[in-house]
Amino acid sequence: MIKIRTLADLRPLPARVFYRADYNVPLDGDRVADATRIEETLPTLRRLRDAGCPVVIASHLGRPKGTRNPKYSLEPVRAKLAELLGSDVQWASDCIGDEAAAKAAALQAGEVLLLENLRFHAEEEGNDQAFAGELRKLGEVYVNDAFGASHRAHASIDALPRLFPSDHTAGGLLLAKEIDFLQKVTTHIEHPFAALLGGAKIAGKIEPLEALVKLADTLLIGGGMANTFLAAKGMRMGNSLVDGESLDVAARLLAGREAMILLPSDLTITNSLDEPTDIKTVGVADGVPHGMMAVDIGPRTISQYASQIGSARTIFWNGPMGVFEKEQFAKGTMAMAKAVAESRAISIVGGGESVEAVKASGFAEKISHISTGGGASLEFISGAALPGVEVLRV
Ligand code: 3PG
Ligand code: MG
Repeated sequence: MIKIRTLADLRPLPARVFYRADYNVPLDGDRVADATRIEETLPTLRRLRDAGCPVVIASHLGRPKGTRNPKYSLEPVRAKLAELLGSDVQWASDCIGDEAAAKAAALQAGEVLLLENLRFHAEEEGNDQAFAGELRKLGEVYVNDAFGASHRAHASIDALPRLFPSDHTAGGLLLAKEIDFLQKVTTHIEHPFAALLGGAKIAGKIEPLEALVKLADTLLIGGGMANTFLAAKGMRMGNSLVDGESLDVAARLLAGREAMILLPSDLTITNSLDEPTDIKTVGVADGVPHGMMAVDIGPRTISQYASQIGSARTIFWNGPMGVFEKEQFAKGTMAMAKAVAESRAISIVGGGESVEAVKASGFAEKISHISTGGGASLEFISGAALPGVEVLRV
């Protein structure tokens, strides 16, 4: 049983809070396309402000790889957060340094300061001690609500809380809620348990996949991940996105498990993502011709997967079934959102894109738990220790 320190355990209060959020939200230009991850932090932020705390908020956005890149600025998040909080959100153009320190020190009770992207510094992903020491100067206590990033041993998640006395660190209401729900589901899994998995890659998901094949009764694979499994089985995949380095792992996972790891039987393919002039369905046995690429699961796969989902009692979904940002290639993902919502199973949907799809489908309120973590919920469910959770354990 995992138990973490919560806001109620936090001493001293009121105090200036360093609040780690996961505001890695999908953007549409300079607009927040889905604000779930921001909305989910509001209860903690309100609680802290009501308690008279000034709050310094830090997050990452995207993968800018240690360089300052305006494409990954948190400015759009600042605007959305101010709108949702109904108050001003102050801004520091760098997460460390004099400007951040001065603005943090000047914050009054209940005021909020958002820092620019932590990942503009390579030291964040490097879990660097000195960088964590710089962040440490900005708060008197530390609160982590970044469940979605808690599987990362990064400076703001791992090194930083270790620089505070332990009773000065806690998980926020969101982190506690995520852990409570996911833990409840995984201690008594109701079978059949179907895991619906998509997204671009297998790399980085190998360990959870290996754990999931032991926990789940059926794995339903779509998206880029399916391409890699199909390629590992020797299917021709044309110009489809295939994770070439994971072919051996995919083959190993499949060996002897073809009955439980379901792969698409047909695919929607196209000649171009941006200017598709040729869109059609192919059976996987025929393969994807050269010059064409798989961009969605096909209609036969949709009904096969939907029927598996319909008979499941527990469903975990992470990752889209295709290039669902483009309407023509969103059918599989939207059909899965509907199938998961209509099922009477305990359903957990995690990951920015799957959550966006469920919300866009209009069925979000029918999901038992919408998780703000994709990789994090996948790892948690498969029994992995998450660095950001471990450091806050009682
Ligand atoms: C996510 O969206 O998966 C989390 O914010 C973590 O981001 P990352 O996968 O780039 O580490
Ligand atoms: Mg991720």
